[in-house]
Amino acid sequence: MSPPSNSTELDLKKERSLRYQLKSFGRLWPYLWVRGNLGFKIRIIAALLLTISGKFFLVGAPFFMGAAIDAVTRAQDGGFEWSKVWWGIGIFILGYGGIKLLSVMINEGREYIFAPVGQHAQRTIATSTFSHLHKLSLRYHLEKRTGGLSRVVERGIRSIDFLFRFLLFNIGPTFLELAIAATAFWIAFSWEFAAIATVIVLSYITFTVLTTEWRLRFRRDMNKKDTEANARAVDSLLNYETVKYFGAERMETARYDSAMAGYQKAAILSRTSLATVNIGQSFLMNLGLVLIMGLASMRVLEGEMTIGNITTVVLVMTQIYRPLNILGFAYREIKQALTDMEKMFSLLDLTPEITDAPEAKPLTDVRGEIVFDNVDFFYDEDRQILRDVSFSVAPGQRVALVGPTGAGKSTVSRILFRFYDIAAGRVTIDGQDLHALTQDSVRAAIGIVPQDTVLFNDTIGYNIGYAKEGATQAEIEQAARAAQIHDFIEGLPLGYNTVVGERGLKLSGGEKQRVAIARTLLKNPPILFLDEATSALDNTTERDIQIALDAASKNRTTLIIAHRLTTVTGADKIIVLNDGRVAEQGTHEDLLAKDGLYASLWQEQSESEFA
Ligand SMILES: Nc1ncnc2c1ncn2[C@@H]1O[C@H](COP(=O)(O)OP(=O)(O)O)[C@@H](O)[C@H]1O
Ligand SMILES: [Mg+2]
Repeated sequence: MSPPSNSTELDLKKERSLRYQLKSFGRLWPYLWVRGNLGFKIRIIAALLLTISGKFFLVGAPFFMGAAIDAVTRAQDGGFEWSKVWWGIGIFILGYGGIKLLSVMINEGREYIFAPVGQHAQRTIATSTFSHLHKLSLRYHLEKRTGGLSRVVERGIRSIDFLFRFLLFNIGPTFLELAIAATAFWIAFSWEFAAIATVIVLSYITFTVLTTEWRLRFRRDMNKKDTEANARAVDSLLNYETVKYFGAERMETARYDSAMAGYQKAAILSRTSLATVNIGQSFLMNLGLVLIMGLASMRVLEGEMTIGNITTVVLVMTQIYRPLNILGFAYREIKQALTDMEKMFSLLDLTPEITDAPEAKPLTDVRGEIVFDNVDFFYDEDRQILRDVSFSVAPGQRVALVGPTGAGKSTVSRILFRFYDIAAGRVTIDGQDLHALTQDSVRAAIGIVPQDTVLFNDTIGYNIGYAKEGATQAEIEQAARAAQIHDFIEGLPLGYNTVVGERGLKLSGGEKQRVAIARTLLKNPPILFLDEATSALDNTTERDIQIALDAASKNRTTLIIAHRLTTVTGADKIIVLNDGRVAEQGTHEDLLAKDGLYASLWQEQSESEFA
């Protein structure tokens, strides 16, 4: 099976809507025309003026060449007089070369002037997209593949550079050049020349755009077939053993070959259609030259134009043609770039699901009282997770959340941390509604040791120190000691400088968990939430850490999600969750006396412990 392609029907339709894309191009403007940055505005205006003047020079140069040729011709007619030849070469040829050189210098100068503006725009857009991605909800990030997201941003940024280069400085100015050339033809010679140049260039552009559109179909087809053949090959090789089990090599090869045949067909169409485009373009270009030369020759015979004038019109025409050569490619790339940019902007358009209320206040002087009041919650509307959950935790208390897996225990921590908003009820900290508090201040007050710890692909020291900006090595080691992992780290060849691998994969589950405990201890929050923080540890280590955690939970509100009930018998209160409801709550003794769900869980676990 090939993976589902991520460009859906809808995407394709959107991709084709030019208006939509031009709108996103317009959104680039504020990043270029930065408010309050006069220097940038001057640079942009200077770059545009340079582009315009460059085009004037470019069109002007052939007129010098024409004059030079006329001067040489005159010199020849009037016998070979050195002074006249010198005049012709000296002024006009040097003039031609000089102006051409100048126009190149102007072009490069424009790059020089504009580069800081373009780069700044790229950087601000990249940074604001990145920061926006962090504002989007956990829900969004769980649904999106991170690799896909960073590719969208990367392509979006690259497309900006491309668009500046091509639209603003290459294709756009070509129209300007055409206008200048046509006007110059009209003034210097006659309107017919202007008409021929305009009609030819415009038909060339129209022809190229239309045929490129037509060819895009073949290219898309070709790419699709290529992906297909590739997916088949990869899938087949991944299943190397299965293929051997069933002696299916010949069938696999045949399947691959048939996929390649599809690619071959599409590739041939793509290539031959390109030939059609090239021939058509060449026809139009040369038709233009023939018409211009023919008309000019006639005018020379009529005595209205000179040989030098023929050179001028031909040179001007070939100059206009030059940027058109890459028009087909540029058109395709510009379309792609507009699509990429639009995708990036549509990321920026996503509104974050969890936002601070307009009058949200920061949570200060945290005492650590937590109340869940008739809370209903669901991740997806069709499946309710928490129903009417109520419990309270007094400041400084140690409270355990227990219950079967899937009961909704971790969900409680996610709600308290405000990764998600609840559907009904109220959650308060120190009597203040979670929704009336700023997310930042709430998150600063809570330390979570999650069920599954993910680490940055950096050193152990970095991962622990992450909890506190500017943490000293001594603080880091102290936290590591408290989490019972200092000795392990010291025993590694590189100690605290050991790199943990992507997502922390080079550490065992128990080691990762202790790094997570260490960094939460370093954060030193008034509220501590331990989500099965010791589940991946063996009994000895668990006992050691339990001592550390007991010490850490002194003087602060602590919520503990525990699988092994023995670890929470001393809790001030135990809340038993079952199927999203609070089944019972009380102390260990209360609950045993009740002989309910907790008692039966306790019974089960003691039996298996001694079995
Ligand atoms: N992001 C999510 N989207 C949808 N359902 C989820 C999500 N996270 C957890 N769930 C579901 O919510 C229920 C409670 O999950 P959780 O609170 O993690 O349980 P536990 O008590 O084991 O910690 C589970 O049935 C789980 O499948
Ligand atoms: Mg859980």
